Amino acid sequence: MKIVSIVGARPEFVQGAPVSRALRERGHHEVLVHTGQHYDYKMSQTFFDELGIPAPDHNLEVGSGAQGRQTGEMLGRLEAVLLQERPDAVIVRGDTNSTVAGALAAAKLHLPIAHVEAGERSFDRHMPEEINRVITDSISDLFFCVSQTAVRQLAAEGIGEGVFWTGDVMLDANLHNRPIARRHSDILARLGLTAQGYALATVHRAANTDDPARLANIVAALNRAPEPVIFPVHPRTRQALGRLGAAFAEHVRLIEPVGYFDMMVLEEHARLIATDSGGVQREAYFFGVPCLTLRDETEWTETVTAGWNVLAGNDPAHIAALWISHRPPAERPPIFGDGTAAQQIVRHLEAAQPLAFGRTRRRSALAAGGGAA
Ligand code: UD1
Ligand code: UDP
Repeated sequence: MKIVSIVGARPEFVQGAPVSRALRERGHHEVLVHTGQHYDYKMSQTFFDELGIPAPDHNLEVGSGAQGRQTGEMLGRLEAVLLQERPDAVIVRGDTNSTVAGALAAAKLHLPIAHVEAGERSFDRHMPEEINRVITDSISDLFFCVSQTAVRQLAAEGIGEGVFWTGDVMLDANLHNRPIARRHSDILARLGLTAQGYALATVHRAANTDDPARLANIVAALNRAPEPVIFPVHPRTRQALGRLGAAFAEHVRLIEPVGYFDMMVLEEHARLIATDSGGVQREAYFFGVPCLTLRDETEWTETVTAGWNVLAGNDPAHIAALWISHRPPAERPPIFGDGTAAQQIVRHLEAAQPLAFGRTRRRSALAAGGGAA
């Protein structure tokens, strides 16, 4: 098979790595396209280096911009690449602007689309990511779901065919890289940290960074934490904190974004993680670290149901209280699969290929339901 794989933002490099490896191991031809949504060394190249991701075949260098402009630039440039490459299928992952641009470009060219991390919903359409997910799922052909909740959500939206629960490719990456990260990262020594002697925080959601009142509350909450807090700051957040004139207590240490290996080691040894990141919520669960989610809702509801993640909202007093009281149970069910998601995805792609994916099926389904009338 010839597969175009689209990545663009930090989590997509992590999600993409195991699938790239599995595709290549099975002798398929992967054409890797980097939209250029993230471009700083610490937001992009470091992941290629550490995760052994091959250099992109195309880097579209779209860069930053307003939602519509960034997505539109990607759409045009992706269309040109897809016309040139003519793949058997296109893989997009997650919920970024690179995801929806890739799916739209492929759909307009009638190319089969496989969505990795399909069916996630926050039910908050103010989030750009929610729009990206809903649109991507509505035009995809194969749906690879991280959790059973996502499978049920797609069913509730009338999407049943081509849906597979594979587990989380981020778990694949996590399990594969854990021992490598432990060998390569000296971040604890560099920062003078001891295991369980600090908390780790990340914040980058637009809803938190672009609303000065919410961001000020997060700053206040971190300032009330009863232990050292290591805070690798996303560039978007760095700018927003500057605009706010935020002042941090001495125990909150702001650092540049860290590479994947350093991040894994910081996560694994943290006493607690406070985050609004989707990937980091799941990684907290993989490592068995208690998590406070600095949002009012989450897509990763299974981690909350399991008792390991708490929706902490935005009130500093509430967050401070949860910071002390949150104690997860002993059990941690395998809700994100067994770390073989990438291999399963490649096998499903191989099996779907002779059917030309969902195109024919979708037309007949529409006709059967009267949709084609
Ligand atoms: C994007 C995704 C979000 C994902 C996050 C992962 C969308 C709508 N959002 O959000 O779902 O969780 O990536 O980190 O796709 N910037 C830099 N250097 C970079 C990249 C960004 O300085 O390498 C700054 C720019 O000022 C930019 C801002 O960060 O405007 C936001 O970047 P952008 O990619 O638009 O959105 P993220 O907040 O990163
Ligand atoms: N990450 C990292 N360094 C950092 C912050 C995050 O390596 O400084 C990793 C994190 O471990 C996870 C991925 O980036 O694998 C998640 O990306 P992010 O939080 O930016 O996006 P989200 O998952 O919320 O879409």
